[in-house]
Amino acid sequence: MLFSSTVFAAPPDAVAGKAKAQTCFACHGENGIGIFGEIPNLAAQPALSITYQLIQFRGQQRKGGAMEALAASLSDQDMRDIAAYYAALPPPPAKSGNANLIAKGQQISNNQYCNSCHGAQLQGQKHIARLAGQSSEYVVTQLKNIRSGSRIDMDGTMGSAARNLSDEDIEAIAAYAASLN
Ligand code: HEC
Ligand code: HEC
Repeated sequence: MLFSSTVFAAPPDAVAGKAKAQTCFACHGENGIGIFGEIPNLAAQPALSITYQLIQFRGQQRKGGAMEALAASLSDQDMRDIAAYYAALPPPPAKSGNANLIAKGQQISNNQYCNSCHGAQLQGQKHIARLAGQSSEYVVTQLKNIRSGSRIDMDGTMGSAARNLSDEDIEAIAAYAASLN
């Protein structure tokens, strides 16, 4: 029926998403693992988080890594399909690192309630990004950008969470996040 097909968006389709994500694979990988440290892993990211970030890039509220140009031609349905594809992939492998730094990062994460939003194992939920298994270089850059305000977050909650973190705290949190699976 014409009416229902124009009013209701199609459900997210991971198979269509894989086809639409071909241009993304050069950087984010077919397996959702970024090809180098400054490129975020998308594997097992909550679908809503991927979609919202793409909407922010398309609207130029968030800029970086030429993503605003790459997102410019994506429709809402493209974004939902691509997000469904990446969200369903197995999570990135945990990385070992300096045990003291990882323990310090875990303590900061607990004290600052990062897990109250990002999930008990920082696995992300709804519109909130997965940090577990994320590249530590990427996490460091983003936390510094959010802290300085050069990356503006959707509702300001993450801006307040980052405000009191020192550079050393950020390094520790990034090592802790990377160590999780
Ligand atoms: C030339 C390399 C490149 C290509 C191609 C590319 N990306 Fe990105 N992407 C990046 C970089 C670099 C960032 C980090 C940007 C920043 O610093 O804020 C990023 C960030 C993202 C993020 C934010 C992730 C997060 O955790 O917040 C999403 C989602 C994303 N890209 C999806 C895509 C999709 C979908 C495509 C294909 C349409 C794509 N990217 C193509 C390099 C690329
Ligand atoms: C009140 C909920 C909340 C709390 C508490 C919170 N975050 Fe976030 N975080 C968010 C939201 C929402 C986003 C997405 C922001 C956006 O781009 O709009 C985010 C984004 C991030 C990102 C960027 C992820 C990516 O893939 O680009 C990092 C890194 C991050 N948070 C780390 C932390 C750390 C570390 C803490 C604890 C110090 C923390 N967050 C506490 C809600 C929260």
